[in-house]
Amino acid sequence: MENRKDHYYKKAKDEGYRARSSYKLKQIQTKFKIIKPGDYVIDLGAAPGGWSQVAGELVKSKGKVIALDKNPMRSFQFDNIITLQMNMESPMLMQHLSTHFNKPINVVLSDLAGNVTGNWHLDSERQIHLATMALRTAETVLNAGGNFVTKVFRGPSLNEFEEELKELFEFKKNWRPPATRKNSAEEYIICKGFVKDE
Ligand SMILES: C[S@@+](CC[C@H](N)C(=O)[O-])C[C@H]1O[C@@H](n2cnc3c(N)ncnc32)[C@H](O)[C@@H]1O
Repeated sequence: MENRKDHYYKKAKDEGYRARSSYKLKQIQTKFKIIKPGDYVIDLGAAPGGWSQVAGELVKSKGKVIALDKNPMRSFQFDNIITLQMNMESPMLMQHLSTHFNKPINVVLSDLAGNVTGNWHLDSERQIHLATMALRTAETVLNAGGNFVTKVFRGPSLNEFEEELKELFEFKKNWRPPATRKNSAEEYIICKGFVKDE
């Protein structure tokens, strides 16, 4: 079994990140350049806040990050990161988000994940459901040209989901950042250039 306190776990502790997953977003950023200074970003499934910390650094003081999770999260020391505790499947989602943003969003991130059961079929279908909910949010809030990153598991419905992403974005690529745990079934889909229907 892989040591829970692995390289990235220790690195996160040393460098002040709340989760080892921070390095997954850093590696996605290095390879795909999805976030830039001044961007407005929504981070879905943000707790404990590792991705939001990284996004907050990248958008700098003129940008803004909403860190949304159904679970409580400690607030951040930088005031460009706002925490929002709610279920992203709530019908009130858009209303709550719009109170924090007065302009279209540049990037939607989703590291949403439920409890895995060990039943591959069930877990992958649940993960695609969360990724689809994240995509629906992205479709509503993203500006033209905006970017979207989501976690998925490989399963029967992934192809259909990917076909939809190809229609909605100019660029789409599946990638497993090196910081992903070796025994994890997850991968990320990085989409750039949202094609908005006007
Ligand atoms: C893998 S963790 C995210 C880790 C985070 N990216 C970080 O770097 O700290 C997945 C998160 O998704 C959240 N989540 C799952 N389903 C959700 C939902 N329907 N609404 C809001 N958050 C949800 C969980 O509470 C959990 O905190």
